[in-house]
Amino acid sequence: MRKRYATFALLFALTLATVMTLPIFAQVLPGNVTSTAMLQSRSSDMIAQVPTAPTAKRPNVVLLATGGTIAGTGATSTTTAGYQAAKLPVTALINAVPELKNIANVTGEQVLQIASENMTNEGLLKLADRVNAVLAKPDVDGVVITHGTDTIEETAYFLNLVTKSEKPVVIVGAMRPATALSADGPLNLYNAVAIAGSPAAVGKGVLVSLNDQISAAREVTKTNTTSLNTFQSPDLGYLGYVELGKPYFYRTSTRKHTTATPFTVTPTTKLPQVDIIYGYGNNSPVLLNAAVADGAKGIVYAGVGDGSISVQLEPAAIAARKKGVIIARSARAGSGRVVRNGEEKDDEYDFIVADNLNPQKARILLMLGLIITNDTKALQDMFYTY
Ligand code: SIN
Repeated sequence: MRKRYATFALLFALTLATVMTLPIFAQVLPGNVTSTAMLQSRSSDMIAQVPTAPTAKRPNVVLLATGGTIAGTGATSTTTAGYQAAKLPVTALINAVPELKNIANVTGEQVLQIASENMTNEGLLKLADRVNAVLAKPDVDGVVITHGTDTIEETAYFLNLVTKSEKPVVIVGAMRPATALSADGPLNLYNAVAIAGSPAAVGKGVLVSLNDQISAAREVTKTNTTSLNTFQSPDLGYLGYVELGKPYFYRTSTRKHTTATPFTVTPTTKLPQVDIIYGYGNNSPVLLNAAVADGAKGIVYAGVGDGSISVQLEPAAIAARKKGVIIARSARAGSGRVVRNGEEKDDEYDFIVADNLNPQKARILLMLGLIITNDTKALQDMFYTY
């Protein structure tokens, strides 16, 4: 009798599960997946199935969308490379996660719609302007930014330096497009909204969250071309985790950020040209000289080892500095500090070191620093402070 009851219960559960999931899978399977309309209709089916939690007061979170893989679509559900980033609009991203309604009142705005390798200084300034404007509204509790993962760390660090609010700012992306099997975007977005709406995230600076992890904008970097676990903070680690709609923090970054920096920008701010020159064997001065001739005000050198500059390149770097170009030594090694007056005579050549910022983040800080000063001592202090 018990066995018959168990078999019946199992059959009933299987039938129910099939009936509930068929419409969803029918819309995400190959041949059907790529249209925004379908993803939107899929999400409205799901909204009907997700009961809204009877929470009295939910935080108001604004989603600023900029494109990337999280808004990407592929030709089939197994297209996890060679898909098109930045296709779905912000409404589709929000509607695809009806569970957001349980943790926040989410509204959206499309600020950019780009693959993040196409991010420009103008794009950074536009985004910063929207972040500051939205956070200035008294009824907004936090901001989530959807962004491509390729340059997410640069945008995150830029915003970490120019956002003038203590309210949470969480940048989120995805490694798989929205149409892929096991797309990571929807849960990443849910997690990001949970963090942005949490009082625990206030005053922590700009945060990056993917794969259930929370990282500091200054420290996090993309370490793997395709893995879901690509984001790491070398040597220092995550700030915490996000699970079941709640962030858990274990540490904070000690470097100053947001309201504690002197950096303010507007959409019309002119960010000075700062280029990155890579160190490698048989280095030649050609690219550094070209950057200087092109008007670079700063050069970030992604040096070998502890930021060493080859004898072939060093005279060009010294000559550039004599022309007024700031030379910041960073390292291509992927972690660790560049030691001032270690591998180079920084005092004598009037170079600065990037501390433990990777080259792409050193470029962000040097651009912002150069708006304020050309003084190498003041710029060096900034690299030890922010
Ligand atoms: C991009 O950065 O826009 C494409 C890659 C990604 O988002 O993962």
